[in-house]
Amino acid sequence: MIVAIDGPAGAGKSTISRLIAGRHDWTYLDTGAMYRAVTLLALEQGIAPADGEELGLLARNAEIGFQPGPDGSPQVFAGCRDVTEEIRGRDVSACVSEVSAHRSVREALVEKQRSIAAAGDVVMDGRDIGTVVCPGADVKIFLTAANRERARRRRLELAQKGVEVSQEQMERDIAARDDYDSRRELAPLKAAAGAVIIDTTNMTIEQVVDRVSGIVEKQLK
Ligand code: CDP
Repeated sequence: MIVAIDGPAGAGKSTISRLIAGRHDWTYLDTGAMYRAVTLLALEQGIAPADGEELGLLARNAEIGFQPGPDGSPQVFAGCRDVTEEIRGRDVSACVSEVSAHRSVREALVEKQRSIAAAGDVVMDGRDIGTVVCPGADVKIFLTAANRERARRRRLELAQKGVEVSQEQMERDIAARDDYDSRRELAPLKAAAGAVIIDTTNMTIEQVVDRVSGIVEKQLK
């Protein structure tokens, strides 16, 4: 079973994907974390976000992996280094869309994502899972929510880590990233044909999980 969950920043993709995967004991793959890890390494190595050639090499050679942490949530590794926290920083968030728009980067990461999907039951979240990475996915979901609400959720997440960002700033940040991700030429952010679109603005996590689970269960029968 392949479940594809796409949508803009802060729509709840990773929370929902993790819970759905956990329910069935399936693999959860956060493809955004892979793009973020490449971006972090590029920033550290002084590779410009515009340098598609170097970024492509970096993405191809990067050993990005996932391992469950002490509380079961996935930890992201670049080689043997745990980069889970660093990839969520504002500097990475500010450059990740530009890095992700290069064909060379996408080809390298999509290949890795497809090989993970080929291994079996998986819930994958990102921007292009239902459209490009796994167009034959058994279930396709497009999660969205009002910009204001998505910014509010992201602020709460950051506040829990001790990072304070104003609501206005956060709305601007995510709107800029959504805009870039939606307008890019390759694999733009959009709902796949046949995807179920769920607006989570006024829904609790539990309600969204129930809704997605219902769709998955139907497909399993
Ligand atoms: O968690 P959040 O919604 O902030 O974003 P993410 O899933 O961590 O993805 C970060 C960025 O990676 C996105 O804004 C996209 O530019 C890029 N991305 C992508 O191009 N394709 C994917 N399948 C996943 C992420």
